[in-house]
Amino acid sequence: MMRDLSVDIAGLTFRNPVTTASGTFGYGEEFLDFLDPGQLGAIFVKAVTAKNRDGNAYPRMAETTGGMLNSVGLQNKGVDHFCREIYPKVKKFDTYIIVNVSGSTVEEYVEVAEQINELEKVPAIELNISCPNVKLGGMAFGTVPAMATEVTAAVRKVYKKVLMVKLSPNVTHITDIAKAVVEGGADVITLINTLLGMAIDAERRRPVLSTITGGLSGPAIKPVALRMVWQVHKAVAVPVIGLGGIMNATDAIEFILAGASAIQVGTANFIDPQASIKIVEGIREYLERHKIASIKELVGALRTE
Ligand code: FUM
Repeated sequence: MMRDLSVDIAGLTFRNPVTTASGTFGYGEEFLDFLDPGQLGAIFVKAVTAKNRDGNAYPRMAETTGGMLNSVGLQNKGVDHFCREIYPKVKKFDTYIIVNVSGSTVEEYVEVAEQINELEKVPAIELNISCPNVKLGGMAFGTVPAMATEVTAAVRKVYKKVLMVKLSPNVTHITDIAKAVVEGGADVITLINTLLGMAIDAERRRPVLSTITGGLSGPAIKPVALRMVWQVHKAVAVPVIGLGGIMNATDAIEFILAGASAIQVGTANFIDPQASIKIVEGIREYLERHKIASIKELVGALRTE
């Protein structure tokens, strides 16, 4: 029997629920020696801002127990460069290309979203209101419900396609932020971005990262991510895309049971560039083993009684 891996995300049909997280998969091109992007449900490309950003000073990555810290600082060459140089290459991939849109002000988010709206082969954006590594904007928008609504609503006015919003876990009540972005017009919620953390070099008595703090990702954050996906799935009616420490197919299935309609593979891409396609295969095997016809049957199917 054929197993159906396809999922519906706000009108987009992903061929399977496995996608790659922004910032961990470049623009897809970097992975062409390892996989065909057409094997994935979608690719979320690195954050795009209005103007060139050089990012933070080095060191800006650190390995930690069960994870890694980054403080890249939204390095990218700006939206004009993306449209001119990157888009013509990525639009050829046989999968959905979703652009992570970042900014320091509401106006900047709107400006970038307006430009990306014109790209025919980009059916969705992921509004990044959760980057912990910038002095202005980023996570600041994702930790105060009124600001989360404001920036989402402003982008909603100019962005005509599927609007996804990526939430920060660095809050007390994740469902308040989820409801706030839905009120602003979000079609889909992606969560979680990284947890704010730090690493210290005891010998030098100095922080490891130039920015002192950074965003923690990897298996260490998976239990927090699962809990938040589960809470948000119950609190809002829009689809949820889950991420946070997914390393294998079992992790992916756990997120789907918690309520994610699709998942993003992030830190695992740095360890094994084929992690995402191995996860697709592992999900197929799980469906086979449990005699489940469609992955959709598992979304939110966690048994709690
Ligand atoms: O620093 C960075 O570029 C990270 C971005 C993010 O976590 O969204």
